[in-house]
Amino acid sequence: MPDDHPDAGGVSPMYVVDEFPSQYYVPLATAGSGSYGVVYFSLRKEDYNAAVKAKAANTFENLRSKLVAVKVCPDMSLQSAEVKTLQVLRDSVDKDTERMFASLINSGHPWIATKAIAPSISLFRLVELQEPVARELVLHLLLEMTKACHFMYEVSKPRLAHRDLHLGNMLIDASYQTRSGFPGLVVIDFDQSETVDAIDAWKEYRVDAWALVSALLQIPYGIKPAEGWDAIYQTFFSATGPVSLRELSDTMQAMLTEALANVTPEKMRSILDPIKTAIEKNEADLRHSFREAGLME
Ligand SMILES: Nc1ncnc2c1ncn2[C@@H]1O[C@H](COP(=O)(O)OP(=O)(O)O)[C@@H](O)[C@H]1O
Ligand SMILES: [Mg+2]
Repeated sequence: MPDDHPDAGGVSPMYVVDEFPSQYYVPLATAGSGSYGVVYFSLRKEDYNAAVKAKAANTFENLRSKLVAVKVCPDMSLQSAEVKTLQVLRDSVDKDTERMFASLINSGHPWIATKAIAPSISLFRLVELQEPVARELVLHLLLEMTKACHFMYEVSKPRLAHRDLHLGNMLIDASYQTRSGFPGLVVIDFDQSETVDAIDAWKEYRVDAWALVSALLQIPYGIKPAEGWDAIYQTFFSATGPVSLRELSDTMQAMLTEALANVTPEKMRSILDPIKTAIEKNEADLRHSFREAGLME
């Protein structure tokens, strides 16, 4: 099952698991949970103590910038796979690619702290908001995923296989805007991942990428969508592969640029508004958590 931020109206009640590293972090709210872990928006103890003292002067942005996502994952083999991949990413990303992946801050037994992507929504939540998702936005998200896969499968040393690239493991990050005007995508959750010397990038990518398109367009996997997807559908399902993900990103970028040239400002607004509203709700929940913790007026 895809996972997501809990969204049961207002801030979800927080249940803190025993293994939470309370010697280092103070949990403020639940960020989400999946099949293997529970994730808490938290502050480092020192940051929390300083923030309590400076309450009147704290701003949302200031607190948000210090926010950490602490994932408690009792299965240590999954935890160590995730830590290993996050370390490879930390050592191999550059200034253009670092924004595309969760970034490791610290880890211990059995937890991992990454930089919080907040406010954000997962693609799982996006599908609930927009059915079906507009073609321009689908193209953008596919392009973002393709770039992330290009990095993991064709660039990083060693190569990384994600193996769990579903809607709940990709977050729309409100703090980064791409040059198309859409927010950036961040790949998270590396507990199924593997570091490998070589990988069949096309095989690894193709099924997940088309699954993404199908899920966003709300059509069954393998069914050809009505219109506007011929070129990409044929690329994914033609027998001629493998295709370089680098070249595919360039093709998709060109398709997106062309599609956006014909989009009116009103249409663009109608695509972005539901995302904006969901992000604002997410931000309001965070503000509420900061206030509840005595960190903000
Ligand atoms: N760095 C992060 N910033 C914001 N939210 C996060 C972060 N990491 C995880 N989450 C939230 O927690 C959920 C579960 O985390 P994930 O790593 O996918 O755990 P699992 O392995 O159990 O699926 C995610 O779907 C997301 O909503
Ligand atoms: Mg997950």
